[in-house]
Amino acid sequence: MPDLVRQHLIDPEICIRCETCAEMCTRDAISYDGVNVVVDFNKCTYSMDCIAPCPTGAIDNWVMVEKPYSLEQQFDWDELPADVGAEPADDEAEAMEDEVSKMLEVAHAGAGGASRRPVTSSQPRVNLYTRASPVVAEVQGNYRITDADAESDVRHIILDLGGNALPVLEGQSLGVVPPGADGQGRKHHMRLYSVCSPRDGERPNHNNIAFTVKRVVEQRDDGVFRGIASNYMCDLSRGDRIELTGPYGNTFLMPDNPEANIIMVCTGTGSAPFRAMTERRRRTMPNAPGKLLLFFGARTPGELPYFGPLMKLPDSLIQRELVFSREPGRPKEYVQDRIHKCSDQVAALLESGQTHIYVCGLKGMEEGVETALEEVCSGHGLDWRALRNVMRDEGRLHVETY
Ligand code: A2P
Repeated sequence: MPDLVRQHLIDPEICIRCETCAEMCTRDAISYDGVNVVVDFNKCTYSMDCIAPCPTGAIDNWVMVEKPYSLEQQFDWDELPADVGAEPADDEAEAMEDEVSKMLEVAHAGAGGASRRPVTSSQPRVNLYTRASPVVAEVQGNYRITDADAESDVRHIILDLGGNALPVLEGQSLGVVPPGADGQGRKHHMRLYSVCSPRDGERPNHNNIAFTVKRVVEQRDDGVFRGIASNYMCDLSRGDRIELTGPYGNTFLMPDNPEANIIMVCTGTGSAPFRAMTERRRRTMPNAPGKLLLFFGARTPGELPYFGPLMKLPDSLIQRELVFSREPGRPKEYVQDRIHKCSDQVAALLESGQTHIYVCGLKGMEEGVETALEEVCSGHGLDWRALRNVMRDEGRLHVETY
């Protein structure tokens, strides 16, 4: 095998020549000749400083080459050479990409076909960091967000990214590989966690992100099972360092169009992407004409992650339909039951070509939600089976269950 080097390139077909990347580059590696913006292989140190600020994603192209493309070659291009991909083309990255796409395929199976991203979503960045080359973040905080006496221990974990670029859109996930090895000495598997903070950070304009993680402890026939990754995450303390891979996911993304209606259906930690999407709307377009309608199921209010903060959001921003299955003295209710109760409103939204549906959480919920939508539609002269396919093909139906 020849020795290959990794080269960073800019896609001339997508680049709008704003030169933001050149301003961000501290190595003076990016230049513009009036035709193309290009990266000097001899100066680029892969700092990634230029990646996040690029408004189009044109900056995010990588290739493994024997001989790097010269500046002269790049100035001459109308398009990238055919072998240039959007991610590092090393074996490890490819293997991990396969592993992640299999995981996401299983999680997205409920959409009934290949999902597409919303037409107006921003361009996601994927696979910037791999298991061999992860990004290291520092724990800023780890807070319990279910009641102290609730059965489930769900945590809001904030990570500081320091000087590292990790552009994540609402709905994307990151990978966590718990340190150490299993009983047979094999490295632990990677787990995917949805980021629950919006693209501009958990705290606006801070380079940080947040996760919602439930500690998995289950009584099984052969004893108590403790989830390796979730317990590792839930036990993190301020100042601990954690390695992340990704970002992953290029379809479960929110529309950036303020006229888009977003119906969100979730249980438990399935709420993570919806917290991110809601926060994005709250920060950037609080008076958007598009509706946010959230169906959120938990055992009791004390078991519902973010119950307090959710209740503080203005009614003008979001309609909350919180349902509880184990509240003493009240009948058990699931999200699909509440969809039925709101059938006139849901049907009216489904008639609009601006409506997007997102379902995230327990796999078991999928069937009930599907049946509820079918029944809501048939009661209002709509054909859910046909509509579902249209919505999915138009990037307006997204299912992520596990
Ligand atoms: P249940 O009381 O039947 O467990 P969890 O707390 O286990 O993460 O679950 C979150 C919520 O999802 C609970 O209220 C749980 O109710 C509910 N749930 C469980 N199965 C389904 C299902 N098939 N469809 C919708 N909700 C479900």
